[in-house]
Amino acid sequence: MHGIVLAGGNGTRLYPSTLAVSKQLLPVFNKPMIYYPISTLMLAGIQDILLITKPNDTSHFFNLLGDGSEFGISLNYAVQAEPNGIPEAITIGRHFLGTNEAFLVLGDNIIFGTGLSNTLNIAKKKLVGSAIFTYDVKDPNRYGIAVENNSNEIVELMEKPQNPKSNLAITGHYMLANDSIGRVNELKKSSRGETEIIDLLGQYLQNGTLTHERLGRGFAWFDCGTHSSLLEASKFVETIEERQSNMIACLEEIALTKGWLT
Ligand code: TTP
Repeated sequence: MHGIVLAGGNGTRLYPSTLAVSKQLLPVFNKPMIYYPISTLMLAGIQDILLITKPNDTSHFFNLLGDGSEFGISLNYAVQAEPNGIPEAITIGRHFLGTNEAFLVLGDNIIFGTGLSNTLNIAKKKLVGSAIFTYDVKDPNRYGIAVENNSNEIVELMEKPQNPKSNLAITGHYMLANDSIGRVNELKKSSRGETEIIDLLGQYLQNGTLTHERLGRGFAWFDCGTHSSLLEASKFVETIEERQSNMIACLEEIALTKGWLT
């Protein structure tokens, strides 16, 4: 499985901070936001990672992360000309992926919790079509959500529903089989003018190969898209790091633990 971090977007809700700087380069407490999604991929055991940015941002990310060798990983770079939708990451990354499965992570998504590596690896091992990661939220109408039956299987997906049938938000982490490369070509643009990840996931739901891992009470999930959520994520990271003196998303530490660095 190869990793893709989608770190384009205009970050309009963070204006003016994102007029000159990519959202994903803004700090979340003591490190740039992009460290967090990269750490998620590394915890899933992935060393080959494609970083997709806006055209003018690539050199900034490269100055920060280089070819990834400092972190025991291999980083490749590609651009998304316009924010045409999350599935476009698979189209952009198709040559990078080759015959591999993909773990696509949004550049502004942070997950943290005990047993995260295990949860990611369980999903990876049983992947057939797509695996998603869901999280209980109190405002499901702001998210794409998954509806479960009594056996914890997903039976329906809803995009920002006015009358949500569940509280289970779909986080910005998507494991996808290699056939997603072909499937994304068939997606039609939505009324927002973008292709929608929920439409791709819907195809896997229909053919019975969409699974999900529920990130339970012990997990924290943030998408850092607004000034408040960015501050909230920073405060969370500060609290954990100051109390425990463990770091969250320290790429060197993860690489060392994995045996990718000496
Ligand atoms: P969004 O928060 O939907 O978009 P944005 O980052 O441009 O912010 P805003 O809504 O404030 O304008 O994107 C979520 C994440 O996905 C973010 O890390 C950017 C990334 N993204 C892309 O890189 N390209 C895309 O086409 C889309 C839809 C998202």
